[in-house]
Amino acid sequence: MTRSELVAEGLSVTFPGGMRALRDVNLRVGEREIVGLVGESGSGKSTLGRVIVGLQHSYSGTLTFAGEALDPRRTTKQRGAIQMVFQDPYASLDPRMTVWQLLDELLSVHRIGSGREDRRHRCEDLMRRVHLPVAMLDSRPVGMSGGQRQRVAIARALAVEPRFLVADEPTAALDVSVQARIINLFADLREEMGLSQLFISHNLAVVRSLCDRVAVIYRGEIVEMAATDAIFEAPQHDYTRQLLAAAPDLP
Ligand SMILES: Nc1ncnc2c1ncn2[C@@H]1O[C@H](COP(=O)(O)OP(=O)(O)OP(=O)(O)O)[C@@H](O)[C@H]1O
Ligand SMILES: [Mg+2]
Repeated sequence: MTRSELVAEGLSVTFPGGMRALRDVNLRVGEREIVGLVGESGSGKSTLGRVIVGLQHSYSGTLTFAGEALDPRRTTKQRGAIQMVFQDPYASLDPRMTVWQLLDELLSVHRIGSGREDRRHRCEDLMRRVHLPVAMLDSRPVGMSGGQRQRVAIARALAVEPRFLVADEPTAALDVSVQARIINLFADLREEMGLSQLFISHNLAVVRSLCDRVAVIYRGEIVEMAATDAIFEAPQHDYTRQLLAAAPDLP
């Protein structure tokens, strides 16, 4: 494997009330690597994603990114380095703002770009990167399709020049017809920008086509982690076998 970009060691999360959402999770994601995270509903996938991206502050264990320890409260630079794309592009975008405002806001907060014109150029580049028309910078999310909104959400995640993306079921809310194109976009981001990714999905066929390795999580524990082919062709853990058997249309 290449050099590790992200290293999580012994991560545990217990929610108030005693719910143990993560138990002693160890995970490494290499440079330019896409790791899939699969497991049934409630197994802790989103919780792990939120810890990695810095949204879940209360956890035990350690996180290291590009050789640097990450504390639960991150610096602006550290927050920029690891970004998240959520399932629901409707909920994650303020419908009153134009795409330009949505992107420009982030560039300003992260002090990216020298002046308004430079930020506008950067936003135009972002639109091209996510395959949206540049003219759509002046539109609001309200009139857009689900796929277009998710592309805007991805552009927002990319705006702060991250090195790592956590994608939490990024196509689950979309029409089947646009899902494949959004999946291709995640593959392009790795090819073109070298972005490492943790890709959370219930869709095993998508995980199989996109990911280099797969981690299987069950009740907050990673029960198996291996190269994608090994997971699908020679699963070692009973739970992985059950998960594959329950998948409707795996090739
Ligand atoms: N803020 C919270 N407070 C209390 N319990 C929580 C909280 N967030 C998640 N949980 C619980 O932690 C467990 C893991 O939840 P999580 O959202 O990480 O699962 P998931 O694998 O992402 O599920 P899904 O596939 O349905 O999205 C669940 O039992 C959930 O009810
Ligand atoms: Mg979830």
